[in-house]
Amino acid sequence: MTQLSPALNQSAGRSPDSSKALYGGKGTRRITVRDISAAKERGEKWPMLTAYDAMTASVFDEAGIPVMLVGDSAGNCHLGYETTVPVTLDEMTMLSAAVVRGTSRALIVGDLPFGSYQEGPVQALRSATRLVKEAGVGAVKLEGGERSHSQIELLVESGIPVMAHVGLTPQSVNTMGYRVQGRGEEAAQQLLRDAKAVQDAGAFAVVLELVPAELAAEVTRVLHIPTIGIGAGPDTDAQVLVWTDMLGLTAGKMPRFVKQYADLRSVMGDAAKAFAEDVVGGTFPENEHSVH
Ligand code: KIV
Repeated sequence: MTQLSPALNQSAGRSPDSSKALYGGKGTRRITVRDISAAKERGEKWPMLTAYDAMTASVFDEAGIPVMLVGDSAGNCHLGYETTVPVTLDEMTMLSAAVVRGTSRALIVGDLPFGSYQEGPVQALRSATRLVKEAGVGAVKLEGGERSHSQIELLVESGIPVMAHVGLTPQSVNTMGYRVQGRGEEAAQQLLRDAKAVQDAGAFAVVLELVPAELAAEVTRVLHIPTIGIGAGPDTDAQVLVWTDMLGLTAGKMPRFVKQYADLRSVMGDAAKAFAEDVVGGTFPENEHSVH
């Protein structure tokens, strides 16, 4: 096989030492936040998916997804709530523990749900400690820029890596709605201040949700921590999608930023109907499915 020169390798979007790559690399030990920082230095892009249960997480781990977020999107995508607001810390702890059990390589990030950190740094530390000790996550995520600075600072000082989340923050749906953030000069400056604030507080990465692509590109240029985009254009360091959206399990109309890579809702529905018809028609079980 022809060896690419390091320069060609880089222009092909790969790092010179691709054995270290977060996706497609040779490493088998669990990924840490230090690996994530090293990827930014190498200029490497990487994928993140949400996961809410052990079995799905094991599929993504085997596929080489390096970072999984046990997002509070579990509220609407797994637990049947309308928004992420009702999700509890008990629920996030249980789901995060399952995802940790189902994986051996991915860095697992547990989301702090609404109401578990807004009171202040001490409440945030108490909540994050549960996710780290009881569920075994390698990092936590919380929403908010400047307003969450002191929470992030105490968690990081206490040894808990923090992924921040700015732009559209779904836990604030009741004040913010689900609208693009950072449009217009003033809003863009606020988003930049928020992104810098979480970096200054010690966050190892920041999610940028539903912000104009040009602004996300600028934030990515300015920060030394990786940006993870969802609805933030192609120039962030990483991309995240909610797994039920990207695999076509979520019902209804998808936001424009979702790319659907499969149609699991049809696959599962068709399989359920085929099983039901076999049972009703008496063609399942057959002899090969029976014991004698
Ligand atoms: O909860 C979640 O899944 C998230 C992602 C959309 C980033 O916060």
